[in-house]
Amino acid sequence: MDELWRSDACGTLRLADAGREVRLAGWVGRRRDHGGLIFIDLRDRSGVVQIVFQPDDPELFAKAEALRGEYVISVKGKVTKRLEGMENPKLATGEIEVVAEDLVVLSEAKTPPFQIDRPGDVDERIRLRYRYLDLRRPALQRNMILRHRVMKAARDFFDENGFLELETPMLTRSTPEGARDYLVPSRVHPGKFYALPQSPQIFKQLFMVSGLERYYQIVRCFRDEDLRADRQPEFTQIDVEMSFVGRDDVMRMMERLIQRIFAVGGIDVNLPIRRISYKEAIERYGSDKPDLRFGLELVDVTDIVRDSGFKVFADAAKDGLVKAINAKGAARWSRREIDQLTEQAIEWGAKGLAWIAVGEGGSLRSAITKFMAEEEIAAVLERLAAEPDDLLLFVADRPDVVHTVLGRLRVVLGEKLGLIDPERYEFCWVIDWPLLEWDAEQGRYVAAHHPFTSPKPEHLELLETDPGAVEALAYDLVVNGVELGGGSIRIHRPDVQERMFKALGFTPEEAHEKFGFLIEALSYGAPPHGGIAFGLDRVIMVMARLDSIRDCIPFPKTQSAMDLMTGAPSDVAPEQLEELGIRLLPSARGGKS
Ligand code: AMO
Ligand code: AMP
Repeated sequence: MDELWRSDACGTLRLADAGREVRLAGWVGRRRDHGGLIFIDLRDRSGVVQIVFQPDDPELFAKAEALRGEYVISVKGKVTKRLEGMENPKLATGEIEVVAEDLVVLSEAKTPPFQIDRPGDVDERIRLRYRYLDLRRPALQRNMILRHRVMKAARDFFDENGFLELETPMLTRSTPEGARDYLVPSRVHPGKFYALPQSPQIFKQLFMVSGLERYYQIVRCFRDEDLRADRQPEFTQIDVEMSFVGRDDVMRMMERLIQRIFAVGGIDVNLPIRRISYKEAIERYGSDKPDLRFGLELVDVTDIVRDSGFKVFADAAKDGLVKAINAKGAARWSRREIDQLTEQAIEWGAKGLAWIAVGEGGSLRSAITKFMAEEEIAAVLERLAAEPDDLLLFVADRPDVVHTVLGRLRVVLGEKLGLIDPERYEFCWVIDWPLLEWDAEQGRYVAAHHPFTSPKPEHLELLETDPGAVEALAYDLVVNGVELGGGSIRIHRPDVQERMFKALGFTPEEAHEKFGFLIEALSYGAPPHGGIAFGLDRVIMVMARLDSIRDCIPFPKTQSAMDLMTGAPSDVAPEQLEELGIRLLPSARGGKS
């Protein structure tokens, strides 16, 4: 016989429901006994409501006394307005309570390893070990609900705009996103391996060759790379590809998508989203994913200090750069604080961090001004618009070091000076990327995005003569210093694709062995096409202002790519390895971490 477990959801009851008989079901949260009454918080996905047990029914009261945290119960009772002064304005249901008339215990529970309904610092390893309990916590439930709503909004948007959701294989060949592959051994073909996709890149381009015109997929991707707060080995992309489009078409369509998605979190995105070139992003902010919520821009003083008596500056100015940030209002920072910044700068690769503190009335405190000419100092102060109370911080080095170090320092300064408003969202497109990057280790150019990214047509001829100068039709969407997504217009002509492979140092044989099927497909009539992929997890992380990407992924892995709940990755039976024709090296045997 079917039972009616509940008539209403706990969190939905309001004053207007007073007088109604309801049946509720959920988990027992906090419990308070006073004045001969027992109060419990009953929690389900919709929220919490207070249940009161009165002593006039001794049998029911005894049952209530036996309740413990996280028991699953079903309660019948009457919705009642709370007594004057007993309301809880922090609770959506805080004006009422449910006076219990009947109670059924559906499941008992052991004492959980951490409190479910009280926020607080719980060791993340314990949270991940008991993820099913962690996911019971209201904060995580909110993130899961947001994630669902975002996916739904995205799907609605794509459907309205003529995109088809099409699936691509998980067991496939290596895909070209530049991380290490996760490999899956084949039993049927011993010694051969599938790779899990780093992205559906090639397949989505093949959909365009097939004439499907507009594709999207909310899809899992796998990358074996060093993990950070915003990276997981297995993550989800909102992946898109469109035919007969140029860069603007893709960017404009995707801006509307992003606007729609962020609206789910009540965040307005003003269109059009501003665009900034890669070069400008690096020069002004020292980053290809600039946080535009605050200033503290990098200022070039190389020309001023070319003949400086401070040798460090003069030397760097010869073939490098000298740039500075004016940390406004930071002149009062102690010597120790400045030394700490210097240590950080050195950790990031700088040789030092020179500084000038401007005091009241323009007096200067600094270890370097004694080496500098008066006009030189005056010109530097003017260039940096220095005023009393400002702290000027300089790095002199190769351009990449100067930009990396000052770019990171800028964010630290922004935080330290309280310039970053966590509720603001500053979006930008970073465009005009270099197509290729020189990889000193490999002694060859590598694709800055992936090898199917189209060069700007006007730069095509440079591919053979000056590869480093070729710009790509690529774009990244950045918000508040986080890269949300990236994409490009693709190469759709096989001859250009071959030239690109050549520039990357692949022999024709290597190119054909790796991506032959794509080159071949292009030769059967490919439309001009392009696309993008957004990191769904990062989108949620930014919308919900989470510090860790793990808080919006239902079952995430640790920084060392472990699943603490299931214990994956794990040993397998010797017979399984035998079947796959795999023998472990001694160093891998019993390799527990
Ligand atoms: P890309 O490699 O830039 O592009 O990836 C697109 C977006 O995916 C997210 N992302 C990640 N999120 C969490 N953990 C990771 N390890 C991780 N790696 C990437 C980022 C990133 O911006 N095929 C191309 C897209 C295209 O050209 O259309 C691609 O995958 O938010
Ligand atoms: P030194 O002359 O080595 O004592 O350095 C004087 C100041 O210059 C110290 O504050 C150093 O941190 C700083 N400094 C040294 N090298 C560099 C550099 N390449 N760029 C910026 N500052 C530097």
